[in-house]
Amino acid sequence: MSAAVTLIEVSPRDGFQSVVPIIPVADKVAIIRALSQAGLKHIEVGAFVHPKAIPQMADINQLLVELRRGDDNCDSFESIVLVPNQRGAVLAAQQQCQRVNFVFSVSEAHNLKNVRKSVDQSLQELRAVQQVIEKNPQMQLRVSLATSFDCPFAGAVDPQRCLDVLAQVTDICVNVQIALCDTTGRAHPFKVEQLFSKAFEQLDNSHQVIFHCHDTYGMAIANVAAAYRSGVRFFDTAVAGFGGCPFAPGASGNVATEDVVYFFESAGISTGIDSEKLRLAIQLAEKIEGAQLGGAIRLLNRN
Ligand code: COA
Ligand code: ZN
Repeated sequence: MSAAVTLIEVSPRDGFQSVVPIIPVADKVAIIRALSQAGLKHIEVGAFVHPKAIPQMADINQLLVELRRGDDNCDSFESIVLVPNQRGAVLAAQQQCQRVNFVFSVSEAHNLKNVRKSVDQSLQELRAVQQVIEKNPQMQLRVSLATSFDCPFAGAVDPQRCLDVLAQVTDICVNVQIALCDTTGRAHPFKVEQLFSKAFEQLDNSHQVIFHCHDTYGMAIANVAAAYRSGVRFFDTAVAGFGGCPFAPGASGNVATEDVVYFFESAGISTGIDSEKLRLAIQLAEKIEGAQLGGAIRLLNRN
């Protein structure tokens, strides 16, 4: 197993979605470019969701056009878009997106609030998304299991429940990326290690396993370490700890990209990211009106 890790930048989707003032497309493009130039090779740039559910994502078509238009076009990174249903996947295919991130929750209560479906209905939707992928071979699939550890409405999630849902996902799709998500940021490192260890026992190695975490209880870096020890090599991160979630009240931002880079690089584990170049993206994030930021390293770097 490789020691190196791959970071997937999610601030332009998971971070921006809870910012109330609409961020100009040009500002989104600038931060995405800065992230790409710092070495991020996978960036979740937005979502095909109902504009009333997440107004900040309503500009996705324009954003994709602008990203393609630039001097350094978005060929330098894989652009990922979140979709909650087949409709979203069709819209993404029309825009020649490279990867769709189909999200649903392990917890019924959160799934109903977030995408207005039961878990069974979302699994049905995943089958439909899989068909869209089969018709569009340039597009790849990622499946994210939100609330894998904890639900903002129902509390701690039984690990077996998560593993059962995971088994249903892998019955539907082979050879996909799968993320287990600590949506509320309330997971504990011991539980993270336990769940990923069991997930790896259950999965064959055709799947890339991702850990997506938030830092509500300040455990995010410890949780990243626990996931790494269990064998995870792909991590969602957000520059400047950008975040919050409109459907997870009280959750703070994702684990900060720069903190994760520091954590791994200090141990000689390559992330492929240039911390100096990442500073521009941090500065741009700090300028965004209404941004909720987190992370530790950026505060040390200020003077
Ligand atoms: N993108 C844009 N519009 C969509 C859509 C999508 N992916 N899926 C459905 N719609 C539209 C339908 O076309 C329909 O439009 P109309 O009223 O003009 O006819 C309308 O939404 C209602 O369709 P329906 O299938 O009944 O959806 P819904 O009202 O039950 O909403 C979701 C379901 C999933 C579309 C909505 O809850 C949503 O976008 N949630 C996003 C959640 C999210 O991003 N959370 C944070 C990330 S985890
Ligand atoms: Zn999240």
